[in-house]
Amino acid sequence: MRVDQTQIVATFDQLTELRRQSPTLERLWQEAYGDSYPAQIRPNGFYPVEVFATLERLIGQADGQLLADLGCGDGGAGRYLARRLGMRLIGLDISPRSVAVAETLAADEGLSDRASFQVGDVAATGLPTRSCAAAICLDVLLYVPDKAAALREAARILEPISNSFCSGM
Ligand SMILES: C[S@@+](CC[C@H](N)C(=O)[O-])C[C@H]1O[C@@H](n2cnc3c(N)ncnc32)[C@H](O)[C@@H]1O
Repeated sequence: MRVDQTQIVATFDQLTELRRQSPTLERLWQEAYGDSYPAQIRPNGFYPVEVFATLERLIGQADGQLLADLGCGDGGAGRYLARRLGMRLIGLDISPRSVAVAETLAADEGLSDRASFQVGDVAATGLPTRSCAAAICLDVLLYVPDKAAALREAARILEPISNSFCSGM
């Protein structure tokens, strides 16, 4: 089945707008997760706070190095890890609206000097080869028509010594 990317963007724009505006929806997410709700991140994917401790351990000390948040949405996951690990951040999403929100939130958190965001497809990011020390791609691949191309692209942008690529479907 062919995946219509325009439809994906429209659906996520609608869902994330609802999420941003609805305290009830936010409360439901919190209740569903219980103690595992990653409140500082407010992800649009489904992963508990414990995942981030694992990611921090896997990436390790990475001061000033570049983290790619592929399919970043509002960018909460990338911002959190960049802050915790002292990394620079590039977030990329197919939705221009998400990218604009991610930029605003990064500025609000004082991260503008080391975080940037761009509209793009995870299967063809346009990022330089071997430019990233780590990459995350959280709850994105299930929407990507050519998953193999997205994985090849992640391998291309990662530094050769990096073992840090994390993707939940
Ligand atoms: C479930 S949300 C997850 C967002 C973010 N990773 C998080 O965990 O909060 C999926 C995101 O993937 C983005 N997306 C879907 N297909 C994409 C593609 N081919 N390239 C880049 N982003 C894509 C959507 O716009 C949406 O922001």
